[in-house]
Amino acid sequence: MNPQIDNLLHENRKFPPSDAFVSQALATAALYDEAKADRLEFWANQARELHWDTPFTQTLDWSNPPFAKWFDDGTLNVAYNCLDRHVEAGNGDRVAFHWEGEQGDSRSVTYAELTAEVKRAANVLSGLGIGQGDRVAIYLPMIPEAVVAMLAVARLGAVHSVIFGGFSADSIRSRVDDASAKLVITADGGWRKGKVSALKPAVDAALEARGDLGPQETVTNVLVVKRGENQVDWTDRDLWWHEEMAKADAEHEAQPFPAENPLFILYTSGTTGKPKGILHTSGGYLTQSAFTHKVVFDLKPESDVYWCTADIGWITGHSYVVYGPLANGTTQVLYEGTPDTPHPGRWWEIIEKYKVTTFYTAPTAIRSFMKLGRKIPKKFDLSSIRLLGSVGEPINPEAWMWYRKVIGAKAAPIVDTWWQTETGAMMISALPGVTETKPGSAQVPIPGISIDVVDDDGVHVGTGNGGLLVVTEPWPSMLRGIWGDPERYQETYWDKFGDKYFAGDGARLDDDGDIWLLGRVDDVMNVSGHRLSTAEIESALVAHPFTAEAAVVGAADETTGQAVVAFVIIKESMLEESAAVEDIAAVLRSHVGEQIGPIARPRDVFVVNELPKTRSGKIMRRLLRDVAEGRDVGDTTTLADTTVMQIITGQVSAK
Ligand code: WT7
Repeated sequence: MNPQIDNLLHENRKFPPSDAFVSQALATAALYDEAKADRLEFWANQARELHWDTPFTQTLDWSNPPFAKWFDDGTLNVAYNCLDRHVEAGNGDRVAFHWEGEQGDSRSVTYAELTAEVKRAANVLSGLGIGQGDRVAIYLPMIPEAVVAMLAVARLGAVHSVIFGGFSADSIRSRVDDASAKLVITADGGWRKGKVSALKPAVDAALEARGDLGPQETVTNVLVVKRGENQVDWTDRDLWWHEEMAKADAEHEAQPFPAENPLFILYTSGTTGKPKGILHTSGGYLTQSAFTHKVVFDLKPESDVYWCTADIGWITGHSYVVYGPLANGTTQVLYEGTPDTPHPGRWWEIIEKYKVTTFYTAPTAIRSFMKLGRKIPKKFDLSSIRLLGSVGEPINPEAWMWYRKVIGAKAAPIVDTWWQTETGAMMISALPGVTETKPGSAQVPIPGISIDVVDDDGVHVGTGNGGLLVVTEPWPSMLRGIWGDPERYQETYWDKFGDKYFAGDGARLDDDGDIWLLGRVDDVMNVSGHRLSTAEIESALVAHPFTAEAAVVGAADETTGQAVVAFVIIKESMLEESAAVEDIAAVLRSHVGEQIGPIARPRDVFVVNELPKTRSGKIMRRLLRDVAEGRDVGDTTTLADTTVMQIITGQVSAK
């Protein structure tokens, strides 16, 4: 075990909830008892908080593992639960979103207005032939229309696939193809870092790149929201969102769909080059995202102003901007732009402006603010904050303490929430008002969730020991599979232990039994809370004419958690040509940016003559990670050629 991690685990600072917080907290220790007494009945009770058109009679069907069915014979409409239900309860005038554009333009949308927009949008989509089960790709900036589009798809029982706005045309193409999407919803562009960043051209390029890829284009229309006002090309399949909305009927009655009706596909990186389309369904997903959002954030819909900074292109945006919060009738902030535009205090200014009470962000953001110093947040009134959350990667105790002191005024509890695209909703977190919090540890399973840390044989490791994180019982918001690839689902998550879900994370139990996450154990990196696979970036690198071979590792990075570091061998035949290029690293970095998206761009590219391989030809990434992190290289005895690492270390340190 890395000695630094060992130190972390002896963290002895603990913060019990204050009396003032406890006296008003929604969560109580009784939740754990209830869940323990009857786990399935506990989840059935949470599900009954939703509106069911047909109540379910069976909670869980696990007769065909690992394919779970939750609340299977019930029917509901997800969008109705997030919208109409609140309006009918008399809360139509409550603000759903305080939307803030990067340029300082803003718009508040009430539940009544949001419901009306979603109804119109549902009519637009059904007019374009979208119905139950059809897939719709969404490629939009953080504007209210993104939420409207997702909910309109959900309202029709169709399936959305949101593609993060930072992904490239190639990434759009492969996702549209994998899901056979019928419709793409995009915008001309959105505001980022003080300028309009175009989106539609990437969709155009993706759809033009059909080429010899297959028999038939599945996309029949592209619906375009006007936001950036940038010039865009236009084809016969394109339609302006605002024109279609103006023509659409205002009335739309939500129809019920089965609890297991697919709600969305969201692509995430795995250990191979091909992203996995993680499939989530309706009733169980909405139950767990709403329940966790309520108890983990101590959500009081009448008085709280909640802000989750995640983009809707990631699972955090799905579960904790759209579905969980809206099912709970929350008032939220939605921000279009980057944290430092036009000034580095932008986020804190927004918190002051809307009197945000509950703030949910990622450790990478906290660390970058920490670097800028406390003077910046201190200029703003953050006294409205009463709860802070963290997600995406382990939060180091130093950043946790800074978050507590500078943003939370030493009073707001911090919840560090562990979960994944696959889990759909939070799985491990403190409950505010109940748990004594501990900097750096995600701590305890959510009531009703069964987690363990086991060794390679699936045996519980016991307190004080490290191992692999597993989920031992099915949970309502679990993925139902990988789109179009049930075998990969079985192999990736279930084959290792048979009866337990393998999350891919290392973890350790401290002496109190609290869970510490130690990062991925597979070839998956976590850069700024976003998952990237080494294989995906390697295949982008070898697609460049210069590259013969490539190996990618995630190296520790002070701000982003991990950073992408690539080692490449240039083709013999390209040596002359590449030598003429002034900066090969820059060329390859931007090539990866074009192939996958800017988030995947390597921090460093090292051109080397050899890569460390075992006798069977497997690249030993562990050794490259040592080099990338500036450590002495560990045991090299299993290498086919033991001198390779000396050469690589020499080449890298010469830079
Ligand atoms: C991976 C999942 C969950 C939404 C954001 C990322 C890491 C996530 C934590 C946390 C330590 C964390 C894990 C996990 N991770 N939250 N609180 N502490 N690690 O979703 O892209 O599906 O990535 O992020 O490694 O497996 P994702």
